[in-house]
Amino acid sequence: MGCEVRREYHQPVMVSEVLEFILEARRNIVVDCTVGDGGHSLEILRNSPNTFVFGIDVDDEAVSTSQKRIDRESMGRFKAVKWDYRELNRFCSRFGIARISAVLFDLGVSSRQLDQKERGFSYQVDAPLDMRMDPRLHKTAADILAEASEDELEGIIREYGEERFSRRIAREIVERRKVEPITTTGQLVEVIDSAMPKGARKDPIHPARRTFQALRIATNDELSRLGDSLAVAFSLLEPGGVLIVITYHSLEDRIVKNTFKELEANLSATIRTKKVLRATKSEVEVNPRSRSAKLRVIQNGEKGES
Ligand SMILES: C[S@@+](CC[C@H](N)C(=O)[O-])C[C@H]1O[C@@H](n2cnc3c(N)ncnc32)[C@H](O)[C@@H]1O
Repeated sequence: MGCEVRREYHQPVMVSEVLEFILEARRNIVVDCTVGDGGHSLEILRNSPNTFVFGIDVDDEAVSTSQKRIDRESMGRFKAVKWDYRELNRFCSRFGIARISAVLFDLGVSSRQLDQKERGFSYQVDAPLDMRMDPRLHKTAADILAEASEDELEGIIREYGEERFSRRIAREIVERRKVEPITTTGQLVEVIDSAMPKGARKDPIHPARRTFQALRIATNDELSRLGDSLAVAFSLLEPGGVLIVITYHSLEDRIVKNTFKELEANLSATIRTKKVLRATKSEVEVNPRSRSAKLRVIQNGEKGES
């Protein structure tokens, strides 16, 4: 059985697999597009002494935490920047980067974000329903619950949460908000609970988990332009450079898979993971979050070219 240990930092997933591909590339400049607490960046820096790593995140705390953490060991080879990976071209112009050796996307939410109760990502503690990774975003999760129509809510919960009781939950949200605004995680958990048929409550997965995931994806618009962002990242790779993407959701993985196929069909590109890579059993035991992780890699040019 897996056991979850509360750690100071987010525990990065599939580090050795990521390193294996990065160490094959030229390793001049690496861009970690979702730096979080810097777990992947730190391992890259430790294992590749001449590499400079840029860490990007929309979350201010991720930027300060990763910079502080890595500064303790670094080497002056790391810079964390608050930036949206959907603006990678502009990032490269701003920092004078012509070509990148490797780009990493580790999508989803970090465990630090989940643990910070006041950010409203977790269904396990009562807090305001915020869920914004980037505080500059205008709409919180509570705003979406207040403003979206029943059909829109149903679509979000079904598509992003893969929740089979999406209609019941959306209807219950609409009914409840007529009585009072739904502004806390606790209220939403209650609403979901009362929408669920009795039998479904025996499911080992918490009844609110899928809806919370869906709402987080909608609040942060996580899937929009993902394919385009990957294509832009690929276009910035030097010959032999690699684009590595870790996803935790089937919709995200489908976007990555299809984007990679298109790149391979139209450009000089090689998909290095003909079969998607999954975390090993032993990793899943120590880090249950890795259970749903899927890793795909595409290389600029032919395999072995650099
Ligand atoms: C799974 S965590 C990354 C964890 C990291 N690999 C580590 O080892 O600590 C994903 C991160 O992506 C960030 N993120 C989400 N959307 C983003 C975007 N559009 N641009 C930049 N960062 C983003 C989140 O704020 C979060 O910190």
